[in-house]
Amino acid sequence: MDLEIAETDLSTPESDMLAFPVVLSALLPLMPSGAVHLKGRVLDALGTALPEVVVELVEPESILPRMSTGTGLDGTFALDSGETDAVAPRLDGAGRLVVELSRAAAVRLELLSVAGHLVAVRTLDLPAGRTVIDHPGSMLPASSTGVHVARVREGRSVLAQGLVARLGAGEEWTRWVSQTPARRSAATAGSRLELRREGFLRKILPLEGLSADLRDIVLERDPLEDRIDSVMAKMELADKLGQMTQGVLGTGDAALGTMRLGSLLSGGGEPLPDYDALQDIALGTPRGIPMIYGIDAVHGTAKLEGATIFPHHIGLGATRDSSLVRRIGEITATEMLASGTDWAFSPCIAVPQDDRWGRTYEGFGETPELAALLGAAEIRGLQGAGKTWSVLACAKHFLADGGTTWGTGTQNTALDQGDALIDMEAVRRTHLPGYVAAVREGVGSVMASYSSIAGKRNHANGELLTGVLKKELGFDGFVVSDWLAIGQIHPLDYEASVRDAVNAGVDMGMEPNQHKEFILALNRLVTNGDVSMARIDDAVRRILRTKFRLGRMDAPRLPVFFTDPVGSPAHRAVGREAVRRSLVVLVNDSVLGKPALPLPTEGVIAVHGSHSDDAGLQCGGWTMGWQGAAGAVTGATTILSGMRSVFGSERIATGATRITGAKAAVFVLGEQPYAEMRGDLEDRDFDDFPVDAATAALMASYRSAGVPVVTVFVSGRARPVPTLLGASDAFVAAWLPGSEGAGVADVLSGTFAPTGILPVSWPSPGQTLVNHGDGKVPFRPYGFGLTW
Ligand code: BGC
Ligand code: BGC
Repeated sequence: MDLEIAETDLSTPESDMLAFPVVLSALLPLMPSGAVHLKGRVLDALGTALPEVVVELVEPESILPRMSTGTGLDGTFALDSGETDAVAPRLDGAGRLVVELSRAAAVRLELLSVAGHLVAVRTLDLPAGRTVIDHPGSMLPASSTGVHVARVREGRSVLAQGLVARLGAGEEWTRWVSQTPARRSAATAGSRLELRREGFLRKILPLEGLSADLRDIVLERDPLEDRIDSVMAKMELADKLGQMTQGVLGTGDAALGTMRLGSLLSGGGEPLPDYDALQDIALGTPRGIPMIYGIDAVHGTAKLEGATIFPHHIGLGATRDSSLVRRIGEITATEMLASGTDWAFSPCIAVPQDDRWGRTYEGFGETPELAALLGAAEIRGLQGAGKTWSVLACAKHFLADGGTTWGTGTQNTALDQGDALIDMEAVRRTHLPGYVAAVREGVGSVMASYSSIAGKRNHANGELLTGVLKKELGFDGFVVSDWLAIGQIHPLDYEASVRDAVNAGVDMGMEPNQHKEFILALNRLVTNGDVSMARIDDAVRRILRTKFRLGRMDAPRLPVFFTDPVGSPAHRAVGREAVRRSLVVLVNDSVLGKPALPLPTEGVIAVHGSHSDDAGLQCGGWTMGWQGAAGAVTGATTILSGMRSVFGSERIATGATRITGAKAAVFVLGEQPYAEMRGDLEDRDFDDFPVDAATAALMASYRSAGVPVVTVFVSGRARPVPTLLGASDAFVAAWLPGSEGAGVADVLSGTFAPTGILPVSWPSPGQTLVNHGDGKVPFRPYGFGLTW
């Protein structure tokens, strides 16, 4: 039977097709395929059954496991996809896809843009027998041309994939270039089983097939646990409670000694520490356990004068480049170590769903894929996979901080620290994958979120912190609470708050200026049995394990650099690359028959706007101070100075009035800096970005003179901009680019063609909640980006 979608049989000359399969294989990661029936039993070296072992089926090049489970009390596990391999596709001589079914089955036929954006989807209820799928291109919207990827899936398995090219109306061809191998060899080369359990060495078993009884699998105990044992054997309760406590610079300094604190931090407002002096205090305690020092290095070491400040995460989301983000993590680690800190409260892997949220820019974008892919990459960079220059990373804020419901915010905000009124399935689908990837990457710490899920505070949610994060995902690092968040559990009963947080799974309390109260409360709770010694020992073991892995137990001093890495040209070059890769061109209209971008290669370019020459505005929140601020940032290049260096100063003019004779006018405008608690926007402010009268008049004067107007928008989120769009011929989202403003000029000048694509849906006015896959039509969809 031929499918209705098999239309005119267009023959394509062979030569036209040659390049495409090559391109395709580079674009498409190998997708899971074939039914899974795996089982086995996990034992320790003495032959004792091991329960609670995380067992993951991992496909090559995939950041998230295809399937996972945990072993039961008897150590057994089973991974079963429930599929029967009823669908066996093959290619016929004419390159068409033939599907032979032993039973009726529903398959999905999907068309994706080459950037991976789903363009069209159709479910086909195929009967048993033979079906030919020929020209899926008929599913494309009438206006779509170019090359698309076609996929046939059953459940999560991709059965076949190919290319659809439509050059114009009626000119179309399809080539299926891959198909699922026959059942026996169903496991794609490189498929493996990964087994993890706290205290044991991770085991990786290459798989020869996806149907097997693997029988007895032995996990070896991690010898590191013996070293932890010997430290813990000498610890008194005071040492243990101290390890579980983080104080703040200033009031916490002396307490490193007197109360044996395990860590200190500088919050948004505190300066950098004298690491060595503080470490001396920690080393002088009876047990001499080194401390670790945390800061919010969320876009580089942005507390340090002269540091390289990278685009905030939302901009990195637009690059889709995990190798770039990994390099940024590595650079941040070295600059942090030079700043006297070794614990980054980063990456934030929030998946912000509502762009009115003031922390939208701290997440990589609105989909779990970005959190998983880029969050894991940043962790890999920060923690350095065994490199000397590594710091401890912290995935935050667990869980669903980006999914809070409008109106539930605390701290006088609408969304921040609010309540995610969504069901667990949505939590798992949207907000959990980033943590699955982070834990697989070996993240050493996770910060709990101030927010709640369905009325339950994350800091007191044992099902999530212990049940999901530590047991189901197998996280063996430690959970730190957020800044004074524990006391919010029961605002009138601090001791009950500490009890509920620690029993839920918080291992270290971030209790600035309140470290003493925390320790005293915990001490009483242990004495009266409300918190068990086993829970305390578990928390301390996790903290020590992390300090050992970081190398701090063996080398309490930070590494010394021969040449100062801070803000080095090599680091700034990566920052600049990140900026130019993060820019997304949303509009590029033609003026007098010529697109506004790239800017003309000759003549004067006028540059105006509040954000054109202000590094502080470019960097946004969490820069030098908590909320960020306008003004100079040591070592930073503003967008205007970047324009001057790329175009040559003689070609750049600026001022309060129109530059006569300018060939184009660039307006750099945007939001004032903000961070948590202060960045949420009400609808009336969100719906249209305001343009002041003088700027509007200046923009209009260029346009009436026939001069193209290009807006570069500096913002921490996507937001409706109807007034600006009406006043511009081209519109470029620059996010919060950080210290390397020249990256903007690299793109505007045409030196580099834009490659950034939207990490979020860009809303139209009146659209406050619009996300990829929700069926709404935003001004520009997720994945959109123009180039030339
Ligand atoms: C924020 C965290 C941050 C911490 C320390 C909290 O208020 O929610 O993201 O890491 O402060 O500055
Ligand atoms: C920030 C601190 C800040 C404090 C103010 C915290 O969340 O991390 O740096 O000073 O809030 O309440």
